[in-house]
Amino acid sequence: MTAKVHRRSGPSDWIKKKLDSFGRPVRYAVDIASGAGRHSFLLSDIASDVTAVDRNLELSNFFRDTHVHFLCIDLERPTWPMEGDLYDIVLVSNYLYRPHLIDIIELVSPGGFLVYETFGNGNERFGKPSNPNFLLKPGELRRSVGDDFVIIEDFFGEVEEPQHAVKSRFFARRAENPIE
Ligand SMILES: C[S@@+](CC[C@H](N)C(=O)[O-])C[C@H]1O[C@@H](n2cnc3c(N)ncnc32)[C@H](O)[C@@H]1O
Repeated sequence: MTAKVHRRSGPSDWIKKKLDSFGRPVRYAVDIASGAGRHSFLLSDIASDVTAVDRNLELSNFFRDTHVHFLCIDLERPTWPMEGDLYDIVLVSNYLYRPHLIDIIELVSPGGFLVYETFGNGNERFGKPSNPNFLLKPGELRRSVGDDFVIIEDFFGEVEEPQHAVKSRFFARRAENPIE
């Protein structure tokens, strides 16, 4: 998928709705595997410091002269490259790399939010992605966040828009004082 394609497609309606629901501004937000930033720019409406992370250096052009910092990082290196970083909102859209799923969840600060939307098992019936490595299993995010998070929304199933697909949509908040 090229950067141009990302730029042309608008943000996910579901993600837009979740970000619109934030009653207060936050400080730090990150868009993981951001593409051309269709959601990074939405994040900058509610967060004063937004980072977009993607391994594709060409995408940096989309962030030039904007308030979004672009970091060119390979998120699939065996050693997690964002160790110790914390964000008030961690947003992931249409990306899954299971070996670092927990590391991505660990980026959410105490009291911070995880907004995650990507394809789920069964999507192979409708098109790509069809590789099970790129498809979430039902309940996988709920199990992965464990008891530290309050789940606000957890949907797994078929959607019609923007195309017929199986999607997982997950919105959760990490407790201010996680259980030891
Ligand atoms: C399907 S696109 C989704 C882009 C964006 N999140 C969106 O929803 O518009 C997947 C993105 O993941 C990025 N990506 C794939 N593998 C990556 C890796 N190892 N490290 C960082 N980014 C990666 C790609 O460059 C691409 O921009």
